[in-house]
Amino acid sequence: MPVLKKIYNACKDSFTPTGPISEEALEKVRAILDDLKPANVGLEQDSVAAQKWKPISNGSNGRKGRSGNQQQYPPPIKYLHIHECEKFSIGIFCMPPASIIPLHNHPGMTVLSKLVYGTLHVKSYDWVDIPELPESCRARPAKLVRDCEMRAPCSTTVLYPTKGGNIHCFMAITPCAIFDILTPPYSSEDGRHCSYFRRVPNKGLPDDIGQQLEGVNLDGIVWLEETPPPENFVVLRGQYKGPLVKKS
Ligand SMILES: [Fe+2]
Repeated sequence: MPVLKKIYNACKDSFTPTGPISEEALEKVRAILDDLKPANVGLEQDSVAAQKWKPISNGSNGRKGRSGNQQQYPPPIKYLHIHECEKFSIGIFCMPPASIIPLHNHPGMTVLSKLVYGTLHVKSYDWVDIPELPESCRARPAKLVRDCEMRAPCSTTVLYPTKGGNIHCFMAITPCAIFDILTPPYSSEDGRHCSYFRRVPNKGLPDDIGQQLEGVNLDGIVWLEETPPPENFVVLRGQYKGPLVKKS
């Protein structure tokens, strides 16, 4: 059976409109995803091209240089949509080198991400539970979960609604592709809206917050504030050309 069909069937059996039925069920999907190869999703040629890719020697990585003679931003990220139902969504983000998926969250969602090819840098955070902050404070404290490079082939990462790095950002070091399964999918009407965040300096917080946080261990804590996504963050919906999931 094609790997994509296996993944689809396992998702159908393991997920509900509120997420995985159990940790074991989630593990079943993760185990199949671990074996996913570029050829299973029609990305073999892209994977070979990524292996041959070399950074530009002046280190500008496609961004505008002082001379201004290069393109200002990296080419847009492509999203290849494969499936969406009320239980889960499946898609692939194809990222050109130096492109960035900015810091964003997955409220109430479990996410499996498999790097299909390439190398990327991932940084992720989880919210820290603290007593309610004054309304004047737009930022919330979060703790760093991951700050590392991932190079394919590597195992699937899983993030959960409140742990595992639910708020994350990716920066492509080489051309790369991430196969993503979200359960349940984003749905604004069900309160699962994608928000973007930026880090704000601790010293910019209102003075009264120090008293609110007395007794809370703030080691390694950063403050994140909701922000509109950067202007140059563009995701184009591309045509998925790999084997299709035959729905039954
Ligand atoms: Fe994400």
